[in-house]
Amino acid sequence: MTTLETERLILRPLTGDDFEDYAAMMSDPEVANGLAEPSVTSREDAWRSLAKFIGHREIRGFSHWALVEKDTGRFAGRAGPWQPYGFPGLGVGWCLARPMWGKGYATEAARAALAYCFDELDAEEVVSLILPGNERSVSVAERIGHRYLRDVEYLGRTARMYGQQRPR
Ligand SMILES: CC(C)(COP(=O)(O)OP(=O)(O)OC[C@H]1O[C@@H](n2cnc3c(N)ncnc32)[C@H](O)[C@@H]1OP(=O)(O)O)[C@@H](O)C(=O)NCCC(=O)NCCS
Repeated sequence: MTTLETERLILRPLTGDDFEDYAAMMSDPEVANGLAEPSVTSREDAWRSLAKFIGHREIRGFSHWALVEKDTGRFAGRAGPWQPYGFPGLGVGWCLARPMWGKGYATEAARAALAYCFDELDAEEVVSLILPGNERSVSVAERIGHRYLRDVEYLGRTARMYGQQRPR
């Protein structure tokens, strides 16, 4: 899986060495509670979550990247394409460590991930599942051009599906 670069971020493959940063990000309930992938804040769950994203890359050939702040080299979160078994389409997702919110990083990474889905993965449609009430995530979705499509059942919960078609 390739490494991408945006104005302020490096998007590189997640590795086991990201565990401490990943666990710190997931330890914040404001982060964990927003995710459509059910998550809790323990280090044990963080390890399993990280392994899930690395394993997805092994199986599918693509996954969320680690987001690294160019200026500081700090881990900012993860974002990227995502299509585990049972997911209703080719997804693009985003998750930032709490200190990295409010800088535009999720939108910057999501735009790069969306372009990757259309240009490299040849997607006809890209979707994102967002839990009801996660307005910050809805804003990211709308900023990258997604529109609300419909509600879907995902892993025992109702999520709002946003998405967009390949540009013509
Ligand atoms: C969802 C989430 C990624 C959104 O993060 P975010 O920082 O609000 O989103 P963006 O990166 O697009 O940043 C937008 C904000 O940065 C601000 N900003 C500051 N500098 C900016 C810049 N240079 N460029 C763009 N925006 C900038 C924008 O004004 C906006 O602020 P506002 O929300 O107060 O209007 C974050 O809340 C999160 O990780 N939540 C927990 C996990 C989660 O819910 N993931 C989504 C699952 S569906």
